[in-house]
Amino acid sequence: MPIVRGKNIEILFSTEEIARRNAELAQEIASTKPDNPLVIAILKGSFVFAADLIRALHAAGISPEVEFISISSYGAGTEAGRPVILRDVETDVEGRNLFIIDDILESGGTLAFTKKLMESRGANSVSLIAMLDKPTKRKANIDADFVGFECPDKFMVGYGMDVGHAFRELPYIGEVVGDADS
Ligand code: IMP
Ligand code: MG
Repeated sequence: MPIVRGKNIEILFSTEEIARRNAELAQEIASTKPDNPLVIAILKGSFVFAADLIRALHAAGISPEVEFISISSYGAGTEAGRPVILRDVETDVEGRNLFIIDDILESGGTLAFTKKLMESRGANSVSLIAMLDKPTKRKANIDADFVGFECPDKFMVGYGMDVGHAFRELPYIGEVVGDADS
């Protein structure tokens, strides 16, 4: 089990599994033949996934534009609150076919908020992509159109996801399972 910052990390999805799944997801998305797609990555958590997925999309023959929106629903803790826009997209989304990418779909608050926002701005279509889906935690009536993996009701770190701003750099997805010296 890897030890990072003095913590044991149990790996749930390995680097290799993630890479394989990204290639499959890109094929699933490509098979919908999106017209002039605009990918919107929700910062910060999805930046690693989005960076890999757009390259997988390229390999699948899709050339998206890429945008970023920064939405906070947490502060530094692990309890979801009301989503707040910290940094908005810079592109006019009216008439565009959007693919909104988030790291993890939990209560659904973040993706439901972002989808509604983009629809209110006149997007032609809004598809939701979540690397992980934690369906047991859902509160909003929303599902992703494309999901990497369903994950258990555990707090995930790595591959862009943090706890208290740590562990985003891990090349795998895992759970912190305690101190390495205990
Ligand atoms: P939702 O709004 O409750 O669906 O939560 C989505 C946001 O919460 C995601 O964008 C993540 O940034 C964060 N989040 C939810 N669960 C986890 C987790 O297990 N690890 C890290 N971040 C999480
Ligand atoms: Mg997030």
